[in-house]
Amino acid sequence: MSAKKRIILDCDPGHDDALAIVLACFSEEPELLGITTVAGNQTVDKTTRNALRVLSLIGKDIPVARGCERPLVGELVTAPEVHGESGLDGAELPEPRFGPVREHAVEFIVRTLRESPSPVTLIATGPLTNVALALRLAPDIAGKIERIVLMGGAARDANATPTAEFNIFVDPEAAHIVFTSGVPITMVGLDVTNRALLTPEEIQGLKDGGPVRRAFAGLLSFYAAANERLLGIEGAPLHDPLAVAAVIDPSVITTQRVHVAVELCGSHTRGTTAVDLYRVTGKPSNAEVALDLDLPRFKRMVLSALERADRSG
Ligand code: RIB
Ligand code: CA
Repeated sequence: MSAKKRIILDCDPGHDDALAIVLACFSEEPELLGITTVAGNQTVDKTTRNALRVLSLIGKDIPVARGCERPLVGELVTAPEVHGESGLDGAELPEPRFGPVREHAVEFIVRTLRESPSPVTLIATGPLTNVALALRLAPDIAGKIERIVLMGGAARDANATPTAEFNIFVDPEAAHIVFTSGVPITMVGLDVTNRALLTPEEIQGLKDGGPVRRAFAGLLSFYAAANERLLGIEGAPLHDPLAVAAVIDPSVITTQRVHVAVELCGSHTRGTTAVDLYRVTGKPSNAEVALDLDLPRFKRMVLSALERADRSG
């Protein structure tokens, strides 16, 4: 029996991050060592509170470490138009049953990696500020990172600007540090996550479940309505859960190993991931970029994790 994959989830809950937490907690494979929060969809106070509320909803006592309040260089850009003022609008969630640990998220990541008896997979579903600072604070941890699987960027899609995806756009310098770190990277970008849609009918079907599924019926209804209003997307794009699913079962995505660079200077293109699909730059590949997904398998993973969360209550 192979040892479970040890993971840390760095996130900015956020509706899809919240479902990523459920998938990480209620799947056989990963051993979730901790959740670290970062400013992105909302302020870090709100993303931290939301992570704690989701864990209280699903009855899991996973350590949560509060992280960076703003990007490395630019000003913080949040997404209340997508996730609401709380960052998790659309359902009444319980108050947190416990608070965050005293450690800063960056310190938590560094200590946990150094103490781990085996390499750890970092799953990042928000701006990469915490991950970048951990790599700068403690370069030695690179050898203890199995892989960074990040939701972010795109080869041929965008949502924050005409050319950039939100997580990379919020902190391009952090993304540059990660993509040039030499650590193995899997980039789960909008090319596949905008296709990882839960339909309105599937969202409504959650209402027939227990308290966890009923809460996510409200959350995902709010989130899907915002995505349709803003981006014309029909359904709920499960960006972050797909990154977690790709760790649990790598066959749920199909990747191509290519070079990815992050634009830092363009006045119109800052935060764009330049994904060299046709290898025109001649630069060495530094990431596995997801270009296709097994949508039925992914949906089964997500819906069964939600069912297990209700059964465990
Ligand atoms: O572009 C989608 C990403 O930005 C997701 O991680 C979503 O939660 C937001 O953080
Ligand atoms: Ca996110």
